[in-house]
Amino acid sequence: MLKNKDLKSLIEKDIQFINTKLDYYLNCCEPKELWQAMRYTALLDGKRLRPLLALESTRICGIDNIEKVVPSACAIEIIHAYSLIHDDLPAMDNDDYRRGKPSNHKVFGEAIAILAGDALNSYVYQMIIENTPKTVQPEVLLNIINIISKASGPNGIVGGQVADIIAESKKFDEKVYDYICEYKTAALFEAAVKIGASIAESSKEKFEALSNYGKLIGVAFQIADDILDITSTQKVIGKTPGKDLKSGKATYPIVFGVDKSIKRVSALCKEAIGNIKNQNVDSALLLKIAEETVAKVSNNDS
Ligand code: IPE
Ligand code: IPE
Ligand code: MG
Ligand code: MG
Ligand code: MG
Repeated sequence: MLKNKDLKSLIEKDIQFINTKLDYYLNCCEPKELWQAMRYTALLDGKRLRPLLALESTRICGIDNIEKVVPSACAIEIIHAYSLIHDDLPAMDNDDYRRGKPSNHKVFGEAIAILAGDALNSYVYQMIIENTPKTVQPEVLLNIINIISKASGPNGIVGGQVADIIAESKKFDEKVYDYICEYKTAALFEAAVKIGASIAESSKEKFEALSNYGKLIGVAFQIADDILDITSTQKVIGKTPGKDLKSGKATYPIVFGVDKSIKRVSALCKEAIGNIKNQNVDSALLLKIAEETVAKVSNNDS
């Protein structure tokens, strides 16, 4: 396994590579107002966790040359960016800050922000088809498109976001909360690891283990985000804290408290790691993401 210092530099290198590719795929075209809005949120500094997971799962499944997965890995990040733009709109969470800067609609206005989200959401399929190397078999590509569209639409982010909005100001229901975390957030984490495994044509067992890891980490990640909404600061999270309670969202930490929520995050991350260890997957990055998801809520420092 990689030493901490080597892992840090590998992550930095991958993030730089992802950022260069995002900049390239989102090359400004006409109409300029639209592309500027699309580029604004997508290129702002984010952790790039989802594309990092896609690259790592490709490597885990035996492919070192990641060119085949890069368009799909960036597509996942672009879908994430679209979901953030729409999530911040006044009709949804109404947040003026994102990634440490004014939200998309604060800079470009609501109409362009909505359209920029729409454009990012549909552009990814054109981007994948036009940029994926021809050495990827058409049926593999179709499978990847299926994975990404499923994770983004009614069976993924949009379904989860709708449940999140409907649950506002309602009595907490643990089943509904789990559904929200799984659909609005974990679905995209799961898709990220699945596309890597699909490109690498992994074994069924490894595919399942990685998918379970993605789902469990994704749920843990959303609970951690809900904890940070209570315990963190705008400077650290780059968005307005304390919004969930104000918006009437009944999150796990609001209902059960921060301590119990940290325990749940920790248990989910442990289970996620158990899944990949059972398949003898030895990945310093997957371990680090799980450990950091727990650490950032335990130390109140993301
Ligand atoms: C924020 O995701 C939205 C949630 C699913 C909680 P991230 O915390 O990954 O945001 P960025 O990409 O680093 O900005
Ligand atoms: C949003 O969850 C998940 C998305 C699909 C964007 P949140 O509403 O808690 O995310 P933040 O806190 O605004 O990033
Ligand atoms: Mg939201
Ligand atoms: Mg929000
Ligand atoms: Mg949040």
